[in-house]
Amino acid sequence: MPYSTNYDVLIIGSGGAGLSLALKLAEHSTRVAVLSKLALTSGSTYYAQGGISAVFDAEDSIESHIEDTLDAGAGLCNPEIVRLTVTHGKSSIDWLRQQGVLFTEEQTLAGETKLHLNREGGHSHRRIVHTNDATGKAVSLSLIERAKEHANIQLFEYHNAVDLITAPDSAASAKRVIGAYVLDTQTHQVKTISARVVVLATGGANKVYLYSTNPQSSTGDGIALAWRAGCRVSNMEFMQFHPTCLYHPQARSFLISEAVRGEGGKLILPDGSSFMENFDPRGELAPRDIVARAIDHEIKKRGIDCVYLDISHKSEQFIREHFPTIYQRCLEFDIDITKQPIPVVPAAHYTCGGVLTDSHARTDIANLYAIGEVACTGLHGANRMASNSLLECLVFANRASEDILRKLPAIPSPPHIPDWDESQVSDSDEEVVVSHNWDELRHFMWDYVGIVRTDKRLNRAMNRVQLLKKEIAEYYSNFRVTSDLLELRNLVIVAELIIRCAQQRKESRGLHYTLDYPETDNSKTPRNTVLSP
Ligand code: FAD
Ligand code: SIN
Repeated sequence: MPYSTNYDVLIIGSGGAGLSLALKLAEHSTRVAVLSKLALTSGSTYYAQGGISAVFDAEDSIESHIEDTLDAGAGLCNPEIVRLTVTHGKSSIDWLRQQGVLFTEEQTLAGETKLHLNREGGHSHRRIVHTNDATGKAVSLSLIERAKEHANIQLFEYHNAVDLITAPDSAASAKRVIGAYVLDTQTHQVKTISARVVVLATGGANKVYLYSTNPQSSTGDGIALAWRAGCRVSNMEFMQFHPTCLYHPQARSFLISEAVRGEGGKLILPDGSSFMENFDPRGELAPRDIVARAIDHEIKKRGIDCVYLDISHKSEQFIREHFPTIYQRCLEFDIDITKQPIPVVPAAHYTCGGVLTDSHARTDIANLYAIGEVACTGLHGANRMASNSLLECLVFANRASEDILRKLPAIPSPPHIPDWDESQVSDSDEEVVVSHNWDELRHFMWDYVGIVRTDKRLNRAMNRVQLLKKEIAEYYSNFRVTSDLLELRNLVIVAELIIRCAQQRKESRGLHYTLDYPETDNSKTPRNTVLSP
């Protein structure tokens, strides 16, 4: 397809959610553009390790997967959405296999081949379909290959969506989306791309914290774009911290998969003693919020830098076969995981909240959808269960595709959109403002809005956010946009939304833990936090 500035559907994001949707739409002669602000593999999807949850084991059941998801979500999951998602587990895996994804298999005693299933925290059965410990890479590369082959899909790498463009809508919703302004980060030009439907598939916002398992791209752009355009946002207080990120001065953002604990990995203190049994009867396989808080507690109480994850009691062959990526990466830092424990700390990992959507991924703005980690569908509630995220990406890509295909024939072409106006701005002479503010934001979010919160810490963080917001808005109106500036402008909005949601929740629930209200308030029906622009 030749490059154009007008498409049927513009998908912002080339992770598991965005590319799955693109492939499904393209099959039906829909002309699709997919943006990625860096390389096509830049999203979290490529880095996913543990796998994708789905019921395959004969002992397992859909009901059990639903129950575990609801339990992890601490009373805030939408049960209908949980059922909808979980019942599509098997068909989602089948679809990925049709796209060429090779999952790890094993031989049964009867000599048959079946999918090997990992076990992870919160799951009462083995139910994680995976490709060794590099599931995301296998999924990403297959989807990218398929998308590149497709004549109806145009891929735009290094294209950063600046803002959505909307127009008045005659129907029930006051606005409809008609496209986006997009910075080509190689030519530094801001282009206009118009489309009848726009889909946010921009991933999470975990780079708002100093320490994160996420790649560079997770700066919450989709949440900020939707918020500025007028969408409601929900449950932003539930930022998930993964318990085990490799702790090493030279290792940036490297995850040690929960599957390591699933295969018997023990969390230990520097003196070799275990501690998880003091926090939860499920020990190392308790849901993530509990394990991350236990580690945080031990680190702070003992004044230590990290705790350790020990899998060395397993044979070298087992470890190298099951965790080849983790084994290799740790070895690069002189840590031989077959012989010694791995130093680990919790780090920001997943954004449970996001742009509020319905069961077809529709947002508050007509023709604007949100899928994947950017969305808040109601699946995760107050805490996402391991490996339910990639499943959500696939299921909601499918739900959105069905709805878009149904509606597309009746959606008119967008009207003429004025070009991006740069006449009032100049090149920045003080880039240091951007890098300084990035650092400041991520530091105070880590210190004040992290695993353990208090009202005082949240208020401190909010004061700083307000100052930064003003400074960034002034900078944005005076200077030409760059990727760093766009990300900072988005992150400060996301930070504010996280703090506002956290301030509203006067209890501890799931991932939101505050010393001022340490108990879960079960005196009334639990409510999701919803913010309107
Ligand atoms: P992403 O894969 O993050 O993709 C986002 C895309 O949007 C990227 O292409 C990015 O460039 C693009 N983008 C962002 N902003 C803009 C913009 N302004 N303009 C243009 N493009 C933009 N989940 C599981 O279920 N199982 C696992 O085993 C698992 N392991 C994980 C391991 C790690 C290390 C991490 C970080 C996460 C893991 N997760 C796992 C979570 C899961 O990987 C993510 O939630 C999921 O991949 C998100 O997919 P997505 O398509 O929504 O977004
Ligand atoms: C992991 O492999 O531990 C990550 C799984 C997830 O985030 O779902």
